[in-house]
Amino acid sequence: MRVLIAYSSKYGSTKDCARKLADKLNCDTEVIDVKKSKPDPRVYDAVIIGGPVYMGKINKPTAVYCELYKELLLSKPLGLFICHMDREKDVNHQISSVYPEELVAHSKVSKGFGGAYLVSNMNFFYKMIIKKAAGVTENKKDIFNKEIDMFAEQFNNIINK
Ligand SMILES: Cc1cc2nc3c(=O)[nH]c(=O)nc-3n(C[C@H](O)[C@H](O)[C@H](O)COP(=O)(O)O)c2cc1C
Repeated sequence: MRVLIAYSSKYGSTKDCARKLADKLNCDTEVIDVKKSKPDPRVYDAVIIGGPVYMGKINKPTAVYCELYKELLLSKPLGLFICHMDREKDVNHQISSVYPEELVAHSKVSKGFGGAYLVSNMNFFYKMIIKKAAGVTENKKDIFNKEIDMFAEQFNNIINK
């Protein structure tokens, strides 16, 4: 069983989550940044897609990958995750609003993994937005490790059936 985790990340928290998830899957897993390459899903038995939410949208390389391979992804066992810091919006609603409807409907597992504000690495514009929208001026990490564990457990059950 060969599983692809196709993710994109601006500041690294989605990359960390993708790697944590890979460590917990009981199969041969490849973790690939879709900003750097766009692996063909046909080579894999199952695919997990992840990306961070920025201003209500999934990070662009993840969106581009979903559009590029949408039809093929609909023929594979599929998992979806997001990294996100808005704690007021329902996670399932956020997932439904950032990924294509067909992929959400087809996905076997979907979860939010929390995220992080890496303020020290942000440009001036992002720092301003985060200060204004969330009152955050220093680095802040809030990863939901339990959600990663649950995602892995559910996905392991699906692929090892
Ligand atoms: C400018 C900016 C806008 C953001 N917009 C949202 C948002 O609309 N909803 C949300 O839940 N999180 C939002 N976030 C939080 C990111 O999703 C979070 O920081 C995520 O962990 C970033 O992932 P990355 O480190 O992989 O890039 C935003 C963060 C920044 C810096």
